[in-house]
Amino acid sequence: MSTIEERLKSYIDTLPKSKLKDAIAYVLLGGGKRIRPILGMTLLESKGVDPTPYIDAFLVVEMIHTYSLIHDDLPAMDDDSLRRGKPTVHIAFDEATAILAGDALLTDSFKMVVNNNHLSALQKVQIIDIIASKAGSMGMVFGQIKDIESENKKITIEDLNLMYELKTANLIQASLMIAGVILSEQEIKSYEELGYYIGLIFQIQDDILEYTLSPEEFGKSKSDDIRNKPTYVSLLGLDEANEVLTKYVATLNRLIDLLNIKDTAMHTQIKLLLNRRK
Ligand code: IPE
Ligand code: IPE
Ligand code: MG
Ligand code: MG
Repeated sequence: MSTIEERLKSYIDTLPKSKLKDAIAYVLLGGGKRIRPILGMTLLESKGVDPTPYIDAFLVVEMIHTYSLIHDDLPAMDDDSLRRGKPTVHIAFDEATAILAGDALLTDSFKMVVNNNHLSALQKVQIIDIIASKAGSMGMVFGQIKDIESENKKITIEDLNLMYELKTANLIQASLMIAGVILSEQEIKSYEELGYYIGLIFQIQDDILEYTLSPEEFGKSKSDDIRNKPTYVSLLGLDEANEVLTKYVATLNRLIDLLNIKDTAMHTQIKLLLNRRK
């Protein structure tokens, strides 16, 4: 979806010339897969609604995701120097710029929703409520503190699942729930459930890919191992992690049937994700 790239570029064009703008351009146009906006927009398309006028409502999630990655890589957090095969923002620029680029992306993201002329006032409020709930201290950020606190600890698989739900599934859920708001459907809860399974599967895959691929192949360093973080592979071993993944994929497929999105563009998109190698 090249419009995602174009729209992000036009947002960057509005920023005043500064090191902050350079850092935001570096990270926002730095090769992200865009899975969160793509999933939300594809869900709209599969339900017969053209997603183009609503693109900004999905870019908000990409901007928050990008801020979360910048901060996630900082020395005080995962201390990573490689992402998407390139130096992380605090390495390419400096720590202060990285922190501020994250702050700016988070804050600017809300304007994306507010300034969209195709959304009603009510839809804007609903979307901001979803984003704040899924990204803030009850959502992604809560997952990130759990992640940091779990270093050097052996936690249960239930605790790991909760952490993955919060730090990874929540933003995917937000994107699908935003599609629900635009569709004015009663199905927002079902889309939240769909996002839960997509997110959980995505993070388990991430554990497996980080373990099995080289940093060059996967584009990120083996920081889970270096920082002694509990993962599906460290807690269960590779074989059992793959078995649990297969079980969750079966549940996801049942949900796809139930939501009447089998053989739609959304189904194709989900299948692409299930086969990802990056
Ligand atoms: C990486 O997410 C962080 C996780 C939640 C595992 P993505 O793999 O979607 O990151 P980019 O944006 O495509 O690099
Ligand atoms: C990243 O989690 C999740 C968020 C930034 C919210 P990880 O730390 O496990 O992901 P990578 O390996 O750095 O992409
Ligand atoms: Mg992390
Ligand atoms: Mg990390």
